[in-house]
Parts: sequence; C-alpha cells; structure tokens
Amino acid sequence: MTDDLQALKTETDAALAAATDLRAWDAIRVAVLGRNGKLTALLRDLGKTPPEERRERGAALNRLKEALTGAIDARKAALDDAALEARLASERIDPTLPPRPRETGLVHPIARTMEEIAAIFGAMGCTVSDGPDVESDWLNFGALNIPAHHPARADHDTFYLPARSPAAEREGQTKLAPPVLRTHTSPVQIRTMLTQPPPIRTIVIGRTYRADHDATHSPMFHQCEGLVIDRDITLGHLKGCLTDFLRAFFGIADLPVRFRSSYFPFTEPSMEVDIGWDRKSGELGRGSDWLEILGSGMVHPRVLANCGIDPREWQGFAFGMGVERVTMLKHGMADLRPFYESDIRWLRHYGFNPLAPTMLHEGV
Ligand code: DAH
Repeated sequence: MTDDLQALKTETDAALAAATDLRAWDAIRVAVLGRNGKLTALLRDLGKTPPEERRERGAALNRLKEALTGAIDARKAALDDAALEARLASERIDPTLPPRPRETGLVHPIARTMEEIAAIFGAMGCTVSDGPDVESDWLNFGALNIPAHHPARADHDTFYLPARSPAAEREGQTKLAPPVLRTHTSPVQIRTMLTQPPPIRTIVIGRTYRADHDATHSPMFHQCEGLVIDRDITLGHLKGCLTDFLRAFFGIADLPVRFRSSYFPFTEPSMEVDIGWDRKSGELGRGSDWLEILGSGMVHPRVLANCGIDPREWQGFAFGMGVERVTMLKHGMADLRPFYESDIRWLRHYGFNPLAPTMLHEGV
C-alpha cells in the first residue's frame, strides 16, 4: 500500500475509534465513502495514474476499499450494540418497588345497573338488541298499536323533531308524521321482529326521552325492554322470568313479587309488576307495602301481525322498566337529578369499582 493509502487507512481507523455515536460515525462514512469522500476521490483519480502503475494502484485501492468498508461496518455494529445496552440499562424496572396509589375512575351507577341487567338476562339466554334514539312515529307508536289520537299517546310527553330534519329525510318521514325522540325502548321490539325470525329472546337497554323534569323524571332517561317470542310462551314464563330477574337484581332471594292487571296498548293481557317493601323505612323485601317497578304483558296479536309474525303460530311476552328507577331503589337514592350532574363528589360516593365484576346472584 502506498503512503497516501496507508495514511487514509490510519486516519480513518483513528476517527472511527474516536466516534462514540452514530452521528459521528455517519460523518466519517460520508467523508470516506460518500460521493465527495476521500476514497471516492482516489478511485476517481485512478485514470490519471500512468498506465504501467494503474493495475497495481487499482488493486491496492480495492483492498483499501474493502478494509475501510469493513472497519466502518464493524464500528456501526459496535455502536448499535452499545446503544442497545444503554437503552436496556436505562429501561430496567425494579419489580420490588411498591405500587404507587393511582386515582382510577369509577363506573357510573346507571352504567353499572345496565351491566347487571345484561348479565342477568344474558344468563337466561337473551341477546342485547339496540336501535336509534330518533324513531319514526310508526315504530315508536303506530306499530305498537298506539295509533294517532290514541289516549295512550298523552302519557308520553313526546319530543317531536322537525318533519324536514336530516333525521326525517333519513327515515323517509317527510310526508308522514314527524320523527320523534323515542319515548320508550319498545320500538326496538318492532325493529327486532321485523329483522329477525322467531324464536326471539332479547333485551334492549338504552336512552329514552320525554318532556318531563322533576326529582324523579328527567327529559333523557334509560329503559330496559325485554321481548320473548316462541310457539308456546305463556304468562307463566313471563312471571317466572321477571320474578327471577327482580330477585337476582335486588339480591333478595325471597323478594315478594306481585303481578297486577293493567293496560298497555301493545300487550294483552297487561300487567304491572310490584315488589314488596316497607314504605316507611324504604327497605325492600320487608314490610307490607307494594311498589310498582315495571310494565309487562303478552305481546298483542296486532303487534305481532304488524311485524309480519303470525299470531296463531307465535306468542310471547314483553316488559319495560326504568333503569334510573331500579337503580335508585337498589341503592337508596332519593333524587334522580344528580345522575346527570357529573358532580365528582356524588360519583365518588355512588360510583363502582371498574375492576369488580358484575356478580350474578343466586337463583339465576
Ligand atoms: N313502553 C312502556 C313505557 O314506556 C313500558 C312497557 C310496558 C314496555 C309493558 C313493555 C310492556 O314492553 O310490555 O312505559
């Protein structure tokens, strides 16, 4: 190797040894092998070498190139290894450190109740169905056997949407009655029967809306609906199912449950369901008073027929209850309004540990 080549090798080796990071390493690589690098210049000048020396000079240059490339690559590998070692050392964790207390969020009581309801009916073999908050007049009322001017409509302080709203256009409702914010979860019964052949076992849990506001009513609230359709479903199934549910939900194995005849346009016969409690102390399952808790009944043949289901072949039951109401009763809450106020002190008091699983009680 001639002196100039040897000098380049020595100089490069020294620079590589001094390079302690990838940036310095890369600068050397470019200075030697880059387009304007020293070795590249020497190779370019090969043409100027007298022809008799060119062969030898060329071979020497090739050897030098190989040596330099090898040295540069080796330094890169060494620097990469060192960087990895340093990272591993800095990311080392000490599993013996005690955990630091951490503030976790809590599950809202409404969400908790919805999880519990779904768990209990899920264990009975129900699916969970849902539908939109904005409903057509037909699905919210008509198909449920509540025609226009039916007095039952007066019980639902309905929020009507403009007939020409985007929601109305979507529902194809521009010429018919204006769409509504659903006043109950019952339209999802209809949606389910229209899209799914029986047998059906499902519940619906979701938001509902009525123009009503006081200590026990909110314009937005939640309901849970149930629908069971099969060839031989009877009132006995309804009673067994709801009794089991109420006892599981309230965690009282012998909770008294009473079925009292009532009226809903979409069921025949219809029944209100009461549970036993002591009005004075507010204690459930004790005392001799009754508290109304939900509505239910055998699905009206006309509702089945509205959904294209032959009522001579299929029958079943349905029920509906207020999620806020059962939550308030279960946890002894007097006022509904704090549910929606997001007061962190209230949430800390009534919220649930998100890691605690939803328990299924005895009897389910
Ligand atoms: N939809 C009723 C309401 O909003 C509740 C209800 C009663 C639902 C009886 C039902 C039922 O499915 O069978 O008050």
